[in-house]
Amino acid sequence: MTNFRNLVIAPLNAAHDRAGFHCNVEALDQYIHKQAGQDIRRRISRIFVATLPDNPKEVMGYYSLSTLSIELSQLPEKLARKLPKQPVPVALIGRLAVSKNALGCGIGKMLLVDAIKRTLTVSDQIAIYAMVVDAINDNAKGFYEQFGFARLSDDSPRLFLPLKSFEDNPVPINLLQSHA
Ligand SMILES: CC(C)(COP(=O)(O)OP(=O)(O)OC[C@H]1O[C@@H](n2cnc3c(N)ncnc32)[C@H](O)[C@@H]1OP(=O)(O)O)[C@@H](O)C(=O)NCCC(=O)NCCS
Repeated sequence: MTNFRNLVIAPLNAAHDRAGFHCNVEALDQYIHKQAGQDIRRRISRIFVATLPDNPKEVMGYYSLSTLSIELSQLPEKLARKLPKQPVPVALIGRLAVSKNALGCGIGKMLLVDAIKRTLTVSDQIAIYAMVVDAINDNAKGFYEQFGFARLSDDSPRLFLPLKSFEDNPVPINLLQSHA
């Protein structure tokens, strides 16, 4: 049986089989097939992929990470009140997808944990207020909401989670439960 706990998560490189990746969302397949390499070269996004040690070419899942600033008015009033009146720096997971052959094995969660850990490391050097995700549909929203992400507004596909919530828990407790 495949042991997904040995998953390797590393930057996308030329050895990875991008064309062989298929999740259940065409736009996310097309992104890694056609756009991801260009975004990396142009320094628009970093892409991290999950592979298994005995098959390092097959992409089991991926996510994209970049930065963004969001208007203070987009945050809930309760949080915005405590911040200076200027745009807020955030890290954006623009896309996250798991191979349709490996859904429900914990890979989505491991990718999310990896993105948060990388962001926390960077945020020691460059201030980042929150992790933001773009949910491609309501199904994806459900995935993020269970980890504490909240909608920026009712009509936006964006959800956020302030990094402050991890200050007392270097890795979020609800993310660690099944993969500690
Ligand atoms: C959403 C997606 C990334 C989840 O990946 P996955 O590897 O199947 O998820 P995991 O196995 O890591 O699930 C982790 C937890 O999330 C739950 N979960 C998974 N998908 C969920 C959903 N759509 N809504 C609510 N909970 C969900 C699982 O039940 C599991 O809970 P548990 O830890 O209590 O057992 C995957 O379904 C996918 O790639 N979907 C298509 C693309 C997509 O929607 N991307 C999202 C953002 S653009």
